[in-house]
Amino acid sequence: MPERNPFESLRKKIVLVTGATGGLGKAVVKRLLDAGAVVAAVYRTEDRLQGLVDFLGGERTALGGFRADLTQESEVTELVDAVLKHYGRIDALLNLAGGWRGGADVAATSLDDWDTFST
Ligand SMILES: NC(=O)c1ccc[n+]([C@@H]2O[C@H](COP(=O)([O-])OP(=O)(O)OC[C@H]3O[C@@H](n4cnc5c(N)ncnc54)[C@H](OP(=O)(O)O)[C@@H]3O)[C@@H](O)[C@H]2O)c1
Repeated sequence: MPERNPFESLRKKIVLVTGATGGLGKAVVKRLLDAGAVVAAVYRTEDRLQGLVDFLGGERTALGGFRADLTQESEVTELVDAVLKHYGRIDALLNLAGGWRGGADVAATSLDDWDTFST
């Protein structure tokens, strides 16, 4: 009996990925595309979107870029509206946006880092 492909259920699924331009996001987007999913990738700047495209080895027809700053509620609403308008549905959300600053305890954390993670 042939082995079941655990990623088969992702074929043609519309997956919204936040943080798609990050270290984790790029690897996840590649895995999703390789599995046959359609990825709506959230980005903030064109250069970061280009970084994702370069990581993937070039444009992919199943990849769509949608710009949004997720700290802005109105932009999140516009993002979801734009993805629904383009693809008709969203089957799954992978919320990988975020970030990490390591090493320092609270007292040694800069105000800039603190503000970044308080929004
Ligand atoms: N990597 C790991 O091994 C690991 C392990 C455990 C947990 N995590 C968590 O997983 C998340 C992602 O990790 P990562 O390593 O991929 O981090 P990363 O490389 O710093 O990527 C962060 C991603 O989030 C996006 N982002 C940040 N703020 C945003 C905003 N306001 N609006 C829209 N997008 C925003 C960034 O967009 P830009 O490209 O525009 O900056 C980038 O795509 C983090 O929360 C991290 O703590 C990661």
